[in-house]
Amino acid sequence: MCGIVGYVGKSQAAPILLDGLAKLEYRGYDSAGIAVYDGEHLVGKKAMGRLKVLSEMTHDGASMPGYVGIGHTRWATHGAPTDNNAHPHFNEDETIAVVHNGIIENYLKLKKKLLDKGYRFQSDTDTEVVAHLLDYYYKGDPLEAITKVMHRVDGSYALGIIFADQPQYVYAVRKDSPLIVGKGQDGNLIASDVPAVLKYTRDVCFIENQEIARLSEREIDFFNVDGEPIEKEYKTIEWDVNAAEKGGYEHFMLKEMYEQPKTVRDTLSPRLKDNQIEIEELGLTDEEIRAISRIRIVACGSAYHTGVTAKYVYEGMARIPVEVDLASEFRYRNPILDEKELVIIISQSGETADSLAALREAKARGNMTLGIVNVVGSSIAREADKVMYTWAGPEIAVATTKAYSAQLIAHYLLALKFSTVRGTITEEELAGYITDLKRLPEQIELLLNNKERIQRFANRYVSAKDVFFIGRGIDYAISLEGSLKLKEISYIHSEAYAAGELKHGTISLIEDGTLVSAVVTQEDLYKKTISNIVEVRTRGAFVMAVTNEGNTEIEKAADYVIYIPQTNKYFTNSLAIIPLQLFGYYVAVGKGCDVDKPRNLAKSVTVE
Ligand code: AGP
Repeated sequence: MCGIVGYVGKSQAAPILLDGLAKLEYRGYDSAGIAVYDGEHLVGKKAMGRLKVLSEMTHDGASMPGYVGIGHTRWATHGAPTDNNAHPHFNEDETIAVVHNGIIENYLKLKKKLLDKGYRFQSDTDTEVVAHLLDYYYKGDPLEAITKVMHRVDGSYALGIIFADQPQYVYAVRKDSPLIVGKGQDGNLIASDVPAVLKYTRDVCFIENQEIARLSEREIDFFNVDGEPIEKEYKTIEWDVNAAEKGGYEHFMLKEMYEQPKTVRDTLSPRLKDNQIEIEELGLTDEEIRAISRIRIVACGSAYHTGVTAKYVYEGMARIPVEVDLASEFRYRNPILDEKELVIIISQSGETADSLAALREAKARGNMTLGIVNVVGSSIAREADKVMYTWAGPEIAVATTKAYSAQLIAHYLLALKFSTVRGTITEEELAGYITDLKRLPEQIELLLNNKERIQRFANRYVSAKDVFFIGRGIDYAISLEGSLKLKEISYIHSEAYAAGELKHGTISLIEDGTLVSAVVTQEDLYKKTISNIVEVRTRGAFVMAVTNEGNTEIEKAADYVIYIPQTNKYFTNSLAIIPLQLFGYYVAVGKGCDVDKPRNLAKSVTVE
């Protein structure tokens, strides 16, 4: 996610902005910038790369005098990471400066209207639309202009804004992206997150959705979306900086698990327009979609696991044959691809060496390639013919959770798009799928709130030596990810097995008390998997089952049952994976493992 800082007070603003942005570096970013009012004009400086570049450029802020300013670290979503796309963004006469965290979903439509009115744009970002829209509505009253913009803009935004002709104020506006206000000794601050202000104050107010804050040196006033004054309460932050970076969570992994409802929503909602699937950046014509003879999914690790799920979804919905390949295998086995095969490379980092090599292998064969990537401007994003972003924001923990969930959403959207174009689903079926997709964030939230029960169960298995995860169909794909989550952070050996495969060898490993996790979400396979549960239980296994609400029959077979809310059979991975993520996390915590940085692992495997 991007980082925002703003300051107005008795001290020089620039050093405070740079210091605040440095406290937000953990959020991940690719460029940074600040704007300060120097007594006459708004002066902006911005640069690609690390914050150090900007600090050197501004002599740690000394070359940008002024008492009012805003700053930003950018995590690119729309527009590659470049100096030009870095924030702050300005209106044409540079009398308004804006920094933004979030996604303006209707920015293309607004940009076209502004271009038609003669506005000229300097960047490829969605944010710059806000700067020109403020200019369009500004007649001398900042609040009036801001509220008009809020009524026009769809999507998520945390905004810091300065108007050159009212330089005693910094404005903060929030919808869905976090933004706080800090009441300091010699001035007041805004920030995306608490760590940026802790050096100056612990008195913080969390701006709620559709609220505006106006800060001056001594005053902080709040307003609603209609510009009416509202009262707000301040909280005293007790966290230390380390805890604050994790938003009060013990680990980044837990924080990112709890961000999954938001990342699912952020990846989903910009692509749902009037109950149709619109993936603007995809750039595949209907003709190209109809011509796809096969989908080849290539990835590593958890990204590969989403591909195993996606096989069932694309084949079930769009009736397109799918092959799923491990990138490290694909790149060396001289694969046979037919010319109309679409090769989809999935990668959170966009830099995984094997996946990048697989992409190049497919391109060398002349195949159309599509990257499903989380990092804008990464190698895979740049080299793939087409790219679809998972807007999960920066993922800090080595073990992926929110990016995995966002990748699943990307697959569902692509499968629905392909199915609609190829006519394999009706409008009515599409509407049903979209209804189920929209409910996933709140259902994930419900499952996350069940964490204490999972934690108690996990504590019983901190000394486990072997754990098995079984399932059939999509449930097997879910088991693959559940097993990886456990072993990569708790160092406990674990294997995922197609439930029907157990009797072909592995069942000999089942002993008294061996934990077996059975995922049972595919109704047409309930009975088959339950018989596998009985097989392992009669050999002494303790069976934890993850199944759909209402499938109470399973309580006769399993020892411990976790229910997930009802959703479409193709989407159950998005829900069933939540308790398995929590299970792996709490076993690792119980063992005292370094959850965010497990031994021997890197967040992005950029070497073979
Ligand atoms: C998942 O928890 C692991 N960190 C790992 O399997 C990861 O999914 C894999 O290395 C692929 O990374 P990528 O998505 O960045 O390409």
